[in-house]
Amino acid sequence: SIVFLNNEFMPMEEAKISPMDRGFLFGDGIYEVIPSYDGKLVGFGPHIDRMNQGLEMIGIQFNWSHEQWQSICQQLIEKNGNGNLGLYLHVSRGADEKRFHAYPDNVEPTVYAFAFDIPAANIPDKSKVKGYRVATTQDLRWQRCNIKSTALLGNVMHFQHGHGQGYNETILFNAENNLTEGSACNAYIVKDGVVITPPLDHQLLPGITRHMLLDILRKHSDIKIEERNVSMEEVMSADEVWLTSSSKEIAPVIEIDGKPVGNGEIGDTWLAAQTLYTQHKH
Ligand code: PDD
Repeated sequence: SIVFLNNEFMPMEEAKISPMDRGFLFGDGIYEVIPSYDGKLVGFGPHIDRMNQGLEMIGIQFNWSHEQWQSICQQLIEKNGNGNLGLYLHVSRGADEKRFHAYPDNVEPTVYAFAFDIPAANIPDKSKVKGYRVATTQDLRWQRCNIKSTALLGNVMHFQHGHGQGYNETILFNAENNLTEGSACNAYIVKDGVVITPPLDHQLLPGITRHMLLDILRKHSDIKIEERNVSMEEVMSADEVWLTSSSKEIAPVIEIDGKPVGNGEIGDTWLAAQTLYTQHKH
């Protein structure tokens, strides 16, 4: 595939970074994943805004305009076949001469972007979508999960916990046994027709899919939404459980730790929500 590295497009095999890059040595960087379907980006503006906010939060002085990023994304889409693609954007603090924890002065950030295949957009049809089976575990990541950092070892280990047992994802609970999110997605329950999801704070990523979904439901439906703590008991007795991310849209969960969610079938509220999301996402 064709990738973008430091202002040039090139075949992935030719893309080289310094082993002293702080993204490599420290996970010192910010990334984004933006979905595109048949050449059309979804949530582009909010994704770039979140990346710029993340860069500011960790003191990387780098702020490309939406137009600059848009041009790179469009070129990556064209050079990689216009299909259903995730655009991965990555800005690390750059390569220093020495390994020293403090933020260095006068280092150029490393900018890397590539496109990868993602599943087609969900069809709002219970028989055509994959029901997720997930594991649970205690959320042992750090206290700044709102930053979309490239340092993902915590997420990787949590994902592997479920994956190693044959599950599709792992959902995480904090020390108070409240739901935080999934290892690579946001999480929701539905109880008596109400969609409930943990409030935005340092324990979870402010997902762009989450933002768009809640916005669409508020504008285009009577479905009630609550952003509040969700206990493990509520998750285990929910009618429906959903996950959202840029690569899976709204994914219905049908099994948690081997137990069925609700009646073990994909729910009607999922169908209503995915139908509206399919209509109104942009
Ligand atoms: N993951 N929470 C975490 C920990 C995530 O890694 C992601 C996204 C989300 C959902 O955010 P959004 O709706 O903006 O994609 C929530 C991306 C897709 C990834 O790391 O591949």
